[in-house]
Amino acid sequence: MKEFIEKLPKAELHLHIEGSLEPELMFELAKRNNIDFKFKSVEEVKKAYEFSNLQDFLDIYYEGAGVLIKEKDFYDMTMAYFKKCHEDRVVHTEIFFDPQTHTDRGIAFETCFNGFHRACEDAKKNYGITSHLIMCFLRHLSEEEGFKVLEMALPFKDKIKAVGLDSSEVGHPPSKFKNLFDKCREEGFLTVAHAGEEGPPEYIWEALDLLKVSRIDHGVRCLEDEKLVERLVKEKMPLTVCPLSNIKLRVFNTMKDHNFKDLLAKGLNALINSDDPAYFGGYMNQNYIETAQALDMTKEEIAQSAINSFESSFLSREEKDKHIADIKALLN
Ligand code: HPA
Ligand code: ZN
Repeated sequence: MKEFIEKLPKAELHLHIEGSLEPELMFELAKRNNIDFKFKSVEEVKKAYEFSNLQDFLDIYYEGAGVLIKEKDFYDMTMAYFKKCHEDRVVHTEIFFDPQTHTDRGIAFETCFNGFHRACEDAKKNYGITSHLIMCFLRHLSEEEGFKVLEMALPFKDKIKAVGLDSSEVGHPPSKFKNLFDKCREEGFLTVAHAGEEGPPEYIWEALDLLKVSRIDHGVRCLEDEKLVERLVKEKMPLTVCPLSNIKLRVFNTMKDHNFKDLLAKGLNALINSDDPAYFGGYMNQNYIETAQALDMTKEEIAQSAINSFESSFLSREEKDKHIADIKALLN
């Protein structure tokens, strides 16, 4: 089974690039940039990775991102992630980045963006991995702040495929960002949003109806609402599920309690992703392996997640078909 997962071509559609910053690189960057860092050793950082909910994690995640200063720092972090993709046979990835985490510290939008984008180009050259960038708005900040970062992003619009919504979910419903997302769609961006991770099914309805999303990030709480499930199935709406993240942030107690297999059984378009792999204990293959083991998934179910990942991506029909044919060849 492990061998099958390792060979399986996969697309990753839910990955926060700032969440791929490993403690070792975090330390190296803190040193390189002479930052007086809160943590004094790699071990101390790792010890802090005990979370009881999303907010607990976010506090440390924003602290960690504080070591990223120069374009090369953003580039190095992104290239380190692409190296993991190459090792895990992730052949396509759609990467979230959080500009406000950096611009609010006085880092120019283009400094972070150029680092991410240059790494995407080099990953295509070095590894043949294709990618898109998705700009996320931090939902604990105001819609007005979101409009400000959108202005900064417009000169780079051709290089940004979609916009998303992340950070603290509960208390910050998608409806808070309706006007901003209307404007983003007018500008030609596709839209996605985190919903139904810690927040209720109503947030998923709002993401669909008000933000007109192409995918729901997480969405695992949809099973609490039968009518919603019916709609998600009918619309083949992708749910970018992140199993290790859900365990670390206590959305489910253990992997055996995870509902991933139930989502597939209901006919939902669910797929496995890593979310913030440096913080949650593993990249794509680790997520696939631990989920498949705990839930006793068949090869066909595992392959379904990978097929769903390409179907749900922003690749062309032709590219999707090519990757899906490669998966089907492995099943025969
Ligand atoms: N959820 C919400 N916001 C985030 C996450 C997450 O898992 N990771 C980084 N920002
Ligand atoms: Zn996420």
